[in-house]
Amino acid sequence: MLISQDEMPLVAMEFMNAVHSEDIGIINELFALVVAYDRGKSSIEAINDKYQEWIAHTVEHFRGEEVMMIEKGFPPYAMHKGEHDRALDEMKRIFQEWQKTMDSSVLKIYLIEIVPLWLTNHIASMDTVTARFFDTGFSPCGIAH
Ligand SMILES: [Fe+2]
Ligand SMILES: [Fe+2]
Repeated sequence: MLISQDEMPLVAMEFMNAVHSEDIGIINELFALVVAYDRGKSSIEAINDKYQEWIAHTVEHFRGEEVMMIEKGFPPYAMHKGEHDRALDEMKRIFQEWQKTMDSSVLKIYLIEIVPLWLTNHIASMDTVTARFFDTGFSPCGIAH
């Protein structure tokens, strides 16, 4: 297992916690497939399918938060959306690099060194502030909705 569900910071919106928990499940499944692949026990197709599932889930994960940020008029929307766009671009770029090189260390380095830290930091910072705003109307800019 790469990320334990216990490491996931909880935010004030249950729908967001549920999506984050699913995300961690997919990341752990993907990592297990990559490790198994190195031992000749999974396939490129299995990794590709799981990675595509992860991208599709992430598109929906981010869209769900962005739709609600727009609906509720979250003031620092652009900052949070910008970080989603950057993370999704990186996820797609790593997939392309893996497709080009077929080098599983590209996936391992990304999954071990980048993803867990990024995800827990993002949830602990932007998602936490955003969920609190959804819940209470309090934003870091001091504008209540
Ligand atoms: Fe999130
Ligand atoms: Fe987010």
